[in-house]
Amino acid sequence: MISDFHPAWLPVEAFRALGSRRVQVRGEGLLLDTVRTEVAAACRRFGGAPADTGLCDVSFAVSSQADLAPEEFTYARGEGVTVVRAADPAGLLHGFFHVVRQGERAFAGDFDERHAPALPIRLVSHWDNVDVHPVMGQVERGYAGGSIFWSAGRLREDLSRVRAYARLLAAGGINAVAINNVNVHEAEAQLLTDRIGEVAALAEQFRAYGIRVHLSVTFAAPIALGGLPTADPLDERVRAWWAQATQTVYARIPDFGGYVVKADSEGQPGPSAYARSHADGANLLAEALAPFGGVVHWRAFVYNHRQDWRDRSTDRARAAYDHFTPLDGRFAPNVILQVKHGPMDFQVREPVSPLLGAMPSTPVAVEVQATQEYTGQQRHVCYLGPMWSEVLRFPFARPVAGLVQGMVTVANVGDDPFWTGHPLAQANLYAAARLGWNPALDPLALLDEWIALTFPGHDPALREALRAIMDESWQAYERYTAPLGVGFMVRPGHHYGPDVDGYEYTPWGTYHFADRDGIGVDRTRATGTGFTGQYPSPWRDAYESLADCPDELLLFFHHVPYAHVLRNGATVVQHIYDTHFAGVERVEAMILRWQQVSGLVDEAVAARIAERLAEQLRSAEEWRDQVNAYFYRKSGVPDARGRRIY
Ligand code: GCU
Repeated sequence: MISDFHPAWLPVEAFRALGSRRVQVRGEGLLLDTVRTEVAAACRRFGGAPADTGLCDVSFAVSSQADLAPEEFTYARGEGVTVVRAADPAGLLHGFFHVVRQGERAFAGDFDERHAPALPIRLVSHWDNVDVHPVMGQVERGYAGGSIFWSAGRLREDLSRVRAYARLLAAGGINAVAINNVNVHEAEAQLLTDRIGEVAALAEQFRAYGIRVHLSVTFAAPIALGGLPTADPLDERVRAWWAQATQTVYARIPDFGGYVVKADSEGQPGPSAYARSHADGANLLAEALAPFGGVVHWRAFVYNHRQDWRDRSTDRARAAYDHFTPLDGRFAPNVILQVKHGPMDFQVREPVSPLLGAMPSTPVAVEVQATQEYTGQQRHVCYLGPMWSEVLRFPFARPVAGLVQGMVTVANVGDDPFWTGHPLAQANLYAAARLGWNPALDPLALLDEWIALTFPGHDPALREALRAIMDESWQAYERYTAPLGVGFMVRPGHHYGPDVDGYEYTPWGTYHFADRDGIGVDRTRATGTGFTGQYPSPWRDAYESLADCPDELLLFFHHVPYAHVLRNGATVVQHIYDTHFAGVERVEAMILRWQQVSGLVDEAVAARIAERLAEQLRSAEEWRDQVNAYFYRKSGVPDARGRRIY
């Protein structure tokens, strides 16, 4: 049932297995209190009993002797008792949610397992503007209503929903949030100083679930907030200002996580104004945070957003690597370089950013976008777990997951009753959280896990239908939008819906170069921008070669004639037609499938999903017809199967 908001992956029913048993909790402190409160609520509901002494079916204990890393827990069962142990309360909380996720499986058979997070940094980044921005709204690129933190520019009085949110995130393994937009406007800038009390109030809610709060700050804060004439990172007054400001933050929030910074990027201020490097800028903040154990997330999303479209030598895809690889080894140890997973900007298909494999002496976090800016804006079903899994498994010298220290997820929630607008978009937040804990998890298994938790006890037909709708929904979206890795083709500004040439003559560096003969961006070393050279072997040669480049990335790396034959046997133009028809057919199949089972879920959920699917179909048809018409008109090549192209 929906009350104020949907329970997402923690409906009451998800606690049945645990709540119907005798549960022992041993240990002290805030997170232990959280676990006790959870246990008591579940037991009240399902007839079990907290059992601090005597016999129990499951025992949760913090034990200092245990040879366990921070956040790690053991999970074992023998002689009819399930035992979870951790060396720290955070580990125990993760162990608690593990038992919840396991349901009845936690009470069957014998097992002896250890679970530790693969990535210590698992941060959710809210692009929350506090105030309503004239173009971006209250949450930049947010597709689920307003902020869950602020209303009418002020901190909400009732923070119970923030607490519920912290609980959902903790149940997926998240341990950090950044509460405001990386583009820091006037109102959010104040959070660092005058409005730190609001941050402290939010931190209190998150703290109960083991989540540390971070702030996005403006590099110009010493000027904007401190009244200094400069923000030069090497200026003593600037260093002193940051030290003082940071000390004040920690006085209010002793477990504050640190700063997130978008500097010298899309108009945000940065160290370049003082002819200083990104290392100088990041190290300035790192120095202020170090005494308190805080970190700086310094974003690598730096490129020239005022490019001349006539200039073919500048390549936005190259920018992050070109800016940051010369600085490897020059960052303070508490700087984390935050790198978008692809070299461009969260497109439906991009190669993995070569920067992720090129900073051996710098802690790096990979950034993914759960908010579906370029993947259907939470009006389209587009389950992104498989995309992120591909990124995390991508084999540089080691898989990306073995090279990075963290995963940052740009959040997709808002004050919408379903949290994410489209109820099925909740799966993206869930999968991102879980993949940060264990990047080796199979994204399809994670989808099943999310379905089972969110719709417990439902008819198996519902689960199968949801799986059929969501599995490969990423590929479906890819089929009816921009083809073969070329990206964009979206309506500038809001980025929803097709506009093939929308960005073609703009300064943003996002071009497809389609003409009457062919399409794609030549990023080869031989004749193009040389971007392929940023990859180590074997990728630098695989992407360079027309014969070896994977089809799905062909137009990212090569400009080819429409008659070029893909490895799948079709010409490029015929592939565009085929995939665009197939993508829409796939959405039609999703709708049919949903109609068969929608009666099995709550009416409000059913209605919202049906409404979103109808919009997805409308939008997919628009994409299909515009993209197909565009390429038919450019190339003059008819569809081999004679289907209708306008
Ligand atoms: C994209 C997005 C912006 C965002 C930027 C970023 O360009 O459209 O809204 O600010 O990414 O990640 O900083």
